[in-house]
Amino acid sequence: MQFTIVTLFPEFFDSALGCGLMAKASESGLVSFAFKNPREHTTDRHHTVDDRPYGGGPGMVMMADPLAKTLGSIQASSGKPGRILMMAPKGRPFTQAMARELAQEESVTIICGRYEGFDARLEELFSIEPVSIGDYVLNGGETAALSVIEATSRLVPGYMGHEDSGEEESFSAGLLEYPHYTRPDVYEGLAVPDVLKSGDHKRIAEWRREQALKITLHSRPDILQEAPLSSNDLEILKK
Ligand code: ADE
Repeated sequence: MQFTIVTLFPEFFDSALGCGLMAKASESGLVSFAFKNPREHTTDRHHTVDDRPYGGGPGMVMMADPLAKTLGSIQASSGKPGRILMMAPKGRPFTQAMARELAQEESVTIICGRYEGFDARLEELFSIEPVSIGDYVLNGGETAALSVIEATSRLVPGYMGHEDSGEEESFSAGLLEYPHYTRPDVYEGLAVPDVLKSGDHKRIAEWRREQALKITLHSRPDILQEAPLSSNDLEILKK
């Protein structure tokens, strides 16, 4: 899968994409990254990419032309930019479902905004999907783009190696994850729950499901509406 990242700061991505599983995935060719800098599509001496907003107000707006030329050059060189996402707080919320969708694509282009955003005409000229990673404002779209890249790449078949899957385990499908423990058995006086040492896989699965339900009810009651729940789950939630 090919990611083309449109950014004024390609160096921002160096260490994040250059370590751990992500480095392995790009070394093996499972995912690849190309960077396009809109500054390279400017004609003035200062390589200007932004200007003051019409109508006044704070901040600067990224001009349409350098971006349009950048997208045009991607179309010309690779043939297909694939889906074009624009990271912006005004966008549609990024979700695991969207990561799953993107992982099916051969190529995805991600535009990282800076300043107050882009000249709105860009969205009329190209088929661009604004995407947000949450209800807060970052300095620019680079951090957000990294989240999209990582969540998507780990769902590309082969990324996690052998039998591991990037998807949640079935006990917590659609729910937040149940708690995990490892050695030692007792830490600072706190013992690992007995059931996890029982070797009884059915009871362990039931315990994990119950924990996932309780954690989700506590931290994210909103996602319980969407989760597939059995009548037994509903009983647990009533307790
Ligand atoms: N750029 C700035 N803030 C952002 C956010 N929350 N999501 C996506 N892109 C952004």
